Formats: sequence, structure tokens, C-alpha cells
Amino acid sequence: MQKTVKDYIRTIPGFPHEGILFRDVTTLFADPQGFRLCIDQLVAPHRARRIDRVAGLEARGFILGGAVAYRLATGFVPIRKKGKLPGRTIAQPYKLEYGEAVIEIHDDALQPGEKVLLVDDLLATGGTAEAGIRLIERLGAEVVGCAFIVDLPDLGGRRRLEAMGLEVHALCA
Ligand code: PRP
Ligand code: ADE
Repeated sequence: MQKTVKDYIRTIPGFPHEGILFRDVTTLFADPQGFRLCIDQLVAPHRARRIDRVAGLEARGFILGGAVAYRLATGFVPIRKKGKLPGRTIAQPYKLEYGEAVIEIHDDALQPGEKVLLVDDLLATGGTAEAGIRLIERLGAEVVGCAFIVDLPDLGGRRRLEAMGLEVHALCA
């Protein structure tokens, strides 16, 4: 039978902390059929619409975002953990399933009115995605969709993003 994206992902209990079931997408990325299937499915809902930029969340959102941007023939914009971007940045703090962090974007990475597709590997509480969306909106650009491989529905991320009026697509739970 045809494998699905979910079939290529493994779950590692206890990483990075006890009690976390970590969804490891490196096995999906490493597989030629799996990676292609994943990129094709992430791109599919967005083929017919205007997208000016793909924004990817560090770290696995970079691997996906680069491939998605290539397929949509757009540019790619990185949203990085604090202190990693070399130019002038704006910053946004956020809470994680297991901790707190700050992410940043270059303050000239997006222009007002640009339409942005936000990409990451996984949606848990939605804290990371919401912080990314806030950064994009603070630059005057518009998030027209959020694309993830995995949605962990019990952690409420999808509800949180949909309550902000955003379109959310995930390939599996
Ligand atoms: C993971 C994942 C998302 C985020 C989702 O990244 O790649 O970015 O957590 O969690 P949330 O919906 O609760 O915010 P992580 O913070 O582990 O960082 P990493 O990509 O640097 O490993
Ligand atoms: N980020 C937050 N929760 C996660 C999980 N369970 N697996 C992988 N990445 C995560």
C-alpha cells in the first residue's frame, strides 16, 4: 500500500524532556519519496493563490520552507532564534510546550502588503507560529496561510491560529 507522510515520521519518547513524545521528522526528510511527498502536499493548497514570500521557522521550517519556496517560485525569509540574524531585527518572545524563547526577523525582510505563507514542521501549542505571525504582521505583511507537517491537536495550536483568523493546513496529527 502507498505510504503516507505520517509513515515516515518516528516518535522518540523523553526528548528533550521526560514526558514529551518528540515527533522526529529527520526520517521523513532523509527519504527521497517521503520528502517529495511531503513538499508536494505542503504546496498543494497554495498553488493557485498569490504568495510573495515563504517564511520558515527555525530550524526544520528552513528545510521545508526552502523547498516550498522553490516549488512556488517565491523567495524565502528565515525567522530565527534570537541572536542569529546579522542585520537589524525585530524580536518576539513566546512560550513553548517545553520552555520559553525569542525569535527574530530582519526588519527589511518583508514589505507592507506582501502575502506570506508561514511554514514549520510541527504545530503544538502554536506559540512559535503565533510569534512568527506577529513578526510578519509587525512588518506590515499578511499571513495568508500556515503549513505544517504535524498538528498535535491536544495542544491547541490549530484552535489558537484559527481564532486569529488564519488558514491552517497540516498533513497529519
Ligand atoms: C519545535 C517545532 C516548532 C515548535 C512547535 O521547535 O519545530 O517550531 O517546536 O511548538 P509550539 O507550537 O508549542 O510553539 P523547537 O522549539 O523544538 O525548536 P528547534 O526547531 O530549534 O528544535
Ligand atoms: N515541538 C513542540 N512539541 C514537539 C513535539 N512533541 N515533537 C516535536 N517538536 C515539538
